[in-house]
Amino acid sequence: MIHFNPDTRTFNLLLKTSYYAFQVDDADRVVHLGWGPRPDDVTDDDVISGTVAHKTYDTPWSFIAQFRPDEVLTFGDVTSHQVTLKASFPSLPVPLKDGEALHLPIRDLRLRYVDHAIVTDAQPGLAPTHGLPVKDNSPRETLRVRLKDPVQDFFVTLCYRLTPEHDILERWLELENAGQDTVSFEVCYFASLHLPAGTNELTYVSGAWAREFTSHRERLSPGTHIIDSRNLQTGHVTNPIFMVNRPGQAWEESGTVYFGALAYSGAWQIAVEQLPTWDVRVHAGYHSFDFQLDLAPGEKHITPAIVCGVSADGWGGASRRLHAFTHDRVLPRPPQGPRFRPVLYNGWEATYFNLSYEGQAELARKAAEMGVELFCVDDGWFGARRSDHAGLGDWVVRADAFPEGLEQLVREVHRLGMKFGLWVEPEMVNPDSDLYRRHPDWVLHFPGRERTEARHQLILDFGRDEVIEYIFSMLDALVERYSIAFFKWDMNRLATEPGSVVGKAIWRKHVAGVYRIMDRLRAKHPTLDIQSCSGGGGRIDLGILARTDQVWVSDNTDAFDRIGIQEGFSLAYPARCMEAWVTHEHSHITQRTTSLGLRFDVAMRGALGIGSSLNELSDAELAEYASYIAFYKRIRHVIQEGTLYRLERLEEFQASVIEYVQSDGREAVYSEAIHDYPIGSFRPAAVLKGLISSAIYTVTDRHNHEVQRATGYELMTLGLPREMTEHVGYSRTLYLQAI
Ligand code: GLA
Repeated sequence: MIHFNPDTRTFNLLLKTSYYAFQVDDADRVVHLGWGPRPDDVTDDDVISGTVAHKTYDTPWSFIAQFRPDEVLTFGDVTSHQVTLKASFPSLPVPLKDGEALHLPIRDLRLRYVDHAIVTDAQPGLAPTHGLPVKDNSPRETLRVRLKDPVQDFFVTLCYRLTPEHDILERWLELENAGQDTVSFEVCYFASLHLPAGTNELTYVSGAWAREFTSHRERLSPGTHIIDSRNLQTGHVTNPIFMVNRPGQAWEESGTVYFGALAYSGAWQIAVEQLPTWDVRVHAGYHSFDFQLDLAPGEKHITPAIVCGVSADGWGGASRRLHAFTHDRVLPRPPQGPRFRPVLYNGWEATYFNLSYEGQAELARKAAEMGVELFCVDDGWFGARRSDHAGLGDWVVRADAFPEGLEQLVREVHRLGMKFGLWVEPEMVNPDSDLYRRHPDWVLHFPGRERTEARHQLILDFGRDEVIEYIFSMLDALVERYSIAFFKWDMNRLATEPGSVVGKAIWRKHVAGVYRIMDRLRAKHPTLDIQSCSGGGGRIDLGILARTDQVWVSDNTDAFDRIGIQEGFSLAYPARCMEAWVTHEHSHITQRTTSLGLRFDVAMRGALGIGSSLNELSDAELAEYASYIAFYKRIRHVIQEGTLYRLERLEEFQASVIEYVQSDGREAVYSEAIHDYPIGSFRPAAVLKGLISSAIYTVTDRHNHEVQRATGYELMTLGLPREMTEHVGYSRTLYLQAI
């Protein structure tokens, strides 16, 4: 609910358990008042009036005014600290005595309140255009507050879209140049968030290829801490998510935690700034490195959104709010699509580039027999692709591998009752390819300069509309010809030498191009699913999730490493979209050996996939796989749709215990995995959440054997008894059902 008091000119945004308030002051500046949890006994009439003034910023001391928490901080009003927007206007002539004029370029922007409106159809920039519904399509209120520079014909609209049931605010900016000359931007965040003084403990993730989503928690020293991506994709090094709280005041299930996630898949930056006053600001949006945004007269720019909120129930509550929001409001849910994410087979780690019809058909038969529902052919099916040296860009089926065409395999996969999926990497080209030989000018580069390759490939210039059109037509033709139900859309390198026909705008244009192609494909083929992959988990964010169904979190499929990677992922993203494979006993990535039980128990924590070489497995092993898959299918509705609690995190007892529970509390899945087991240690039993105290639950294992029977009350107070046989790599998955 959005509340405006015309007398005090105060805005109150009221969400389920939190509030957000700001005020237009006497000088028409829009100044933040507060953001946080609401007391339990509030009603919708309890609002902040703005009469409890915290600080006065109108003093003769200009440095104090610099601390004023404007809802949008502009270079002009603020020069000593980070700003939300920095714009350059054309120079104004200053008349001199002798009739000459001095031209002074202007880098001063001040924004003052004009008017506001509450609407229900507002969309941030780069919102999906595929037209597919999400789970919850009910209208949401957006507050639009229009501001104007007192001198220039330049408007900024501050947008706040509310999803009250999940305590989520989406914030973005709309910039409008109503003047006669071009306005250029050097800094453009989607929003600056003002957090209470001392809120300086930051949780974020970092990583690299095969080590994505390692979570960190740090108490920040004064100054600015930056997490960012200087890439055309979201990046491996970190991910655009954060949580912040007062040190020692928040835990997994309690305390106030502010959180946010960007809905954008390109060069982004989140800067957490701690002022000398201890006030904390989070600025999030476009990276200002190599940034360019020019608005010609009459032009508008709508930024993507930062999705943010505040949890009164710790980091777990922050995660659950983001999960529910993504689940209900972000992930596409075409009515004809599958209710639950299907069990997938992907042969990458089984065959790599060594593809043949016979080999794939044999894998497909074994996969179907064990219960797989979607069969995906990975890299190597096209052009001269016998290794990563050649063929990218030539999306024509390899005749040596599939002499009867891919149709033969597609028919076999369909006959076996599975859907057919294909790997593509549409943004790339190997110099050794027909596409490159035809269009050497289509790649990012600076003419006459060195041009480095990675994995022997170059990036297509999505600054060119003809490239985007070409890629769309190519993918569209593949879907039609091979009845493709699923693309694994990969993106395997970072941009170096990012020369484009559109100059610095390429960072934004590339993202917009990828989104446009995905949106058009999905609009035309509403049952097509897409998995976002970027050399593992390099493109995961709320922007890509609005047009994909699942993401590949890491090429590291070692179940041990995966426990931590998936825990980091779960800070912001829901289990439903987390593709996780069971692969070989001996990991190709880490050379570690793990039991089948651990591999399944960890992979079943998301959308289960199988990536093992099925031809190397005995009949008994294949039967074991089938038994796990059958179990997963019995419990996946709880994993993919339930509420997630991290009952125990790795950081404390080197064990990860997760519970997924249905909203009515009648079913739950309990998943334990021991990463390390210090001898002599006795890990406490993890107590469950969200059950019905008075109900009696049966607790069953994958063979449907009842291992326990207890009331919800007992399970939520004493927890499930630990097994005395625990050891490094011990794991179990149990299903709880109220009887
Ligand atoms: C990337 C992906 C892998 C696989 C290979 C194929 O590394 O992350 O899963 O598809 O490309 O080349």
